[in-house]
Amino acid sequence: MLKPIHIGPLKVDQPVLLAPMSGVTDLPFRTQVRQFGCGLVYSEMIASGQMVRANAETLKMSTSCAEEGEMAVQLAGCDPAVMAEAARMNEARGAALIDINMGCPAKKVVGGMAGSALMRDEDNALRIIEAVVKAVRIPVTLKMRMGWDHANLNAPSIARKAEAAGIQLITIHGRTREQLYSGKADWAFIAEVKQAVRIPLIANGDVVSVEDAADILRVSGADGVMIGRGVFGRPWFPAQVQQFLAEGIRAADPTVNRKREIVLAHYDALLSHYGEYKGLRIARKHLAWYAAGQYGANMFRVKVNTEENPARVKDLISAVFSDAFAPLEMKAAA
Ligand SMILES: Cc1cc2nc3c(=O)[nH]c(=O)nc-3n(C[C@H](O)[C@H](O)[C@H](O)COP(=O)(O)O)c2cc1C
Repeated sequence: MLKPIHIGPLKVDQPVLLAPMSGVTDLPFRTQVRQFGCGLVYSEMIASGQMVRANAETLKMSTSCAEEGEMAVQLAGCDPAVMAEAARMNEARGAALIDINMGCPAKKVVGGMAGSALMRDEDNALRIIEAVVKAVRIPVTLKMRMGWDHANLNAPSIARKAEAAGIQLITIHGRTREQLYSGKADWAFIAEVKQAVRIPLIANGDVVSVEDAADILRVSGADGVMIGRGVFGRPWFPAQVQQFLAEGIRAADPTVNRKREIVLAHYDALLSHYGEYKGLRIARKHLAWYAAGQYGANMFRVKVNTEENPARVKDLISAVFSDAFAPLEMKAAA
């Protein structure tokens, strides 16, 4: 069902993409997703202004692009020159492509006239696109929503202009900025954007099952699918989608024993990437997502959210991801 796509020199054989997600798609999580398989992974959104001011935290978000392998770095900002400079810096650090964020609805970002606010200022959006395309040799892509609100569904018109300005792939999240994350993503609208351009078009929004992935592709006619929240606690999900689209096979989730290994490895990677204090805190949301549906998940979440000792967190992980059917307190004590 999926054909390979070409993004400039980059060939993506099975275009099932990991969405950029602030606070989630950091290096440890991207590594997790990659080990199962995924067409292309995106960084968290990186504030272009902070990048050029060489903010240490921001630089960490795009560290080791080169060692990590092909990855897309997403930039947010409203100043063409700053966006161009940040793009150049990421190209030098080994990014395979630069994605421009025109979809983020957060007030902090929109207030700065970046993210989805750019959809209300097409002139500046175009200036940014032109500046970034000119600044780098790697492909530049664009991620946006349908429009600011339902009275202004201008994604097809921006897409057309963006393609003319040199954008090589567009991702559409089938919601408006006004909707934030409410309602249901409009997969049929994505078809209107698909028809407006010749470059690859990626459909995004509310894909949480392999069937959803097949449906969004059928309804939108898109060339690939991007998955966000559907990977929470399920880094193997993009690979399952790839297998379903390619072979019609519904691959089983990992066994509980395998999940324990996966979660422990992710936990260790978070601690070494961020250091113990920060890593332990960042891990909490991932651990809650992983444990959802597991016997004792509620108790696990409560305990993990207050536990400061990394070794004891690991004991809790081993207890909750275990075949033994016993309350968590008993398992942890055993
Ligand atoms: C926690 C979180 C963080 C996000 N951060 C970004 C971001 O940094 N850049 C971006 O373009 N979209 C961001 N998004 C939007 C997702 O990339 C995606 O477009 C949206 O979640 C819809 O896809 P889904 O229904 O598969 O989650 C974020 C979404 C979530 C839930």
